[in-house]
Amino acid sequence: MASRIGMSTLTVLVVGGGGREHALCLGLAKSPSVTAVHCSPGNAGTSMVASNHNVSSSDIEGIVSLALELDSNLVVVGPEAPLVNGLADSLRDAGISCFGPHSEGARLEASKLHAKEIMKSLGVPTGGHIVVDEKSLIPNALDKFEAPWVIKRDVLAAGKGVTVTSDRKVAEEALLEGIELDGFVLLEEHLSGEEASVLVVMDESGYICLPASQDHKRVGEGDTGPNTGGMGAYAPAPIVSESVMHRVTREIIEPMHHHLRNQETPYRGCLYLGLMIDEEGAPGVIEFNVRFGDPETQVTIPLISSDMGQLLLACAEGRISEEEYEFHDLCAATVVLASEGYPASSSTGRKISGSEVKIEEGMTSAFVHYAGTIIGEDGQLISSGGRVLSATGLAPSLNDAVAASYELIECIQLEGSHYRSDIAYRAL
Ligand code: AMP
Ligand code: GLY
Repeated sequence: MASRIGMSTLTVLVVGGGGREHALCLGLAKSPSVTAVHCSPGNAGTSMVASNHNVSSSDIEGIVSLALELDSNLVVVGPEAPLVNGLADSLRDAGISCFGPHSEGARLEASKLHAKEIMKSLGVPTGGHIVVDEKSLIPNALDKFEAPWVIKRDVLAAGKGVTVTSDRKVAEEALLEGIELDGFVLLEEHLSGEEASVLVVMDESGYICLPASQDHKRVGEGDTGPNTGGMGAYAPAPIVSESVMHRVTREIIEPMHHHLRNQETPYRGCLYLGLMIDEEGAPGVIEFNVRFGDPETQVTIPLISSDMGQLLLACAEGRISEEEYEFHDLCAATVVLASEGYPASSSTGRKISGSEVKIEEGMTSAFVHYAGTIIGEDGQLISSGGRVLSATGLAPSLNDAVAASYELIECIQLEGSHYRSDIAYRAL
């Protein structure tokens, strides 16, 4: 089935409906090789650059039928859950190229224990861990690591299954709750340093590392308060210097690629490295994800100057090593506008205005990536989720990219909404 599609012939279906999928649709719509972009279920933003369809990303059969109906050359899967549930397997069985790993590959994200075991067997740097499956083992397990303790449920929990605490009582409670809910829970060694994300587009023939980024997971200024899906991001992240990237490649990407390329069904998609970089520049893996990050994608895809359609199709067909790729010499920042109450709850159904503003001044630009949004019957833009949209700035310097994002977000009105005012503070 592998064939090099000529220019301007690709029909691509993007699965998902967040800011990440809007960024993917925008990147694909700009690709010379792509003639049609579809998105399911999509959001208000994707409907401006692609044709939205009303099939949920969790409906595997529905997505396969849609891809066949559209005569898609390529399906790009945004979120992890459909990959874990076998969407890529089903698409490939139907003869459709899929960017995103098969369900076995997706276990790297679905099971943190599985990921730890693979890393340990390959000597990939990561913190130690203990499996705790009985209440009586809790005190002993806590004695084995120093505070702060990291407790993780071994389930897909969209970042919400993790407790990091220096309070032994809270740690005990989290361990007990995990045992009660799932039968066992992981206690992990705490890694300290600065976090960074590296998105690696990988297949059995090779891999391409996209510019490193940093997201802001906590809701509050200075990285405080509860975890969220991500309140903003920027790229390239200076913490991942050339020498750090060299170590990431040698110690993490190379062994993972060697492992994944030799599986019965090779891994084809994005391997997201969630890293902690310590004071000496040594990287450790906090987690793997099997898809593009959100909001990291919003600051990474705009930096790719090559044809994204060709790049993702090459990966889906196992020939990424043949692809040439280039990046713009720019920096990107994105600031998320969240609805009232997020992340504990989110108020939806409110009118959004001002988001059509675009900034273009020489090499500096800013535009909106839409997430939890729909277009109402009267054409009015309405909020429909926790993370509503993000303002993304591009500029030759990070300072100017961040300034452009804030200039744009200040033009947008949504009652009760909030955003962080310190995105990229560690780098500036
Ligand atoms: P995860 O869902 O595994 O990415 O965890 C969510 C967040 O918890 C991460 O982004 C980190 O900020 C924090 N975290 C998770 N594991 C560790 C660890 N072993 N050491 C330090 N922080 C961690
Ligand atoms: N931004 C974190 C994630 O996509 O998992």
